[in-house]
Amino acid sequence: MEKDLFKKICGSFTTGVTVITSNDKMIDYGFTASSFTSVSIDPLLILFCLNKEAKSNIALKNKSFFIVNILNEKQINICNQFADNKLKPEERFRGVETKNSNNQIKKISDSIAFLECQVTEKIEAGDHYIYIGKVIEGEVNKNLLKPLIYQNGLIKNLL
Ligand SMILES: Cc1cc2nc3c(=O)[nH]c(=O)nc-3n(C[C@H](O)[C@H](O)[C@H](O)COP(=O)(O)O)c2cc1C
Repeated sequence: MEKDLFKKICGSFTTGVTVITSNDKMIDYGFTASSFTSVSIDPLLILFCLNKEAKSNIALKNKSFFIVNILNEKQINICNQFADNKLKPEERFRGVETKNSNNQIKKISDSIAFLECQVTEKIEAGDHYIYIGKVIEGEVNKNLLKPLIYQNGLIKNLL
């Protein structure tokens, strides 16, 4: 199959948007990810896919902590900022309100929900790695918030 057709078909699959934050040697990392999905209930496992060239790979070693921040419909700027690979890791957090978790990972304020995880597996898959994370804890925003949506390369609101 042509790569463009593959991209078109996969792009037609609608997802939510997350920012996955991590830390290595006191430097905060974060990138926008639509590849997040839950994997297992017993034990609690999730996964996401990350390009092999991405800077965040530095901070995602075995047992490293990371947070999946599920973005709400008003967080389009945050989505774009964390997808901008021209920005250095720490520059992506500029103007973004955060709180540190117990493991010193940044939680993006006003996200719909958070999951704090620990890397348990890193699987090579073509030009990406598949990361499997064991879930440590999580939190859902008390306010009922609508999600940010990603489809056909566009970031949108539900309505
Ligand atoms: C809505 C959206 C979803 C994305 N999902 C992913 C993803 O799941 N995996 C990935 O590797 N890149 C994804 N990207 C691209 C990364 O966010 C972008 O390449 C980022 O610069 C990688 O950061 P890093 O190189 O600093 O780690 C997505 C971008 C957007 C806008």
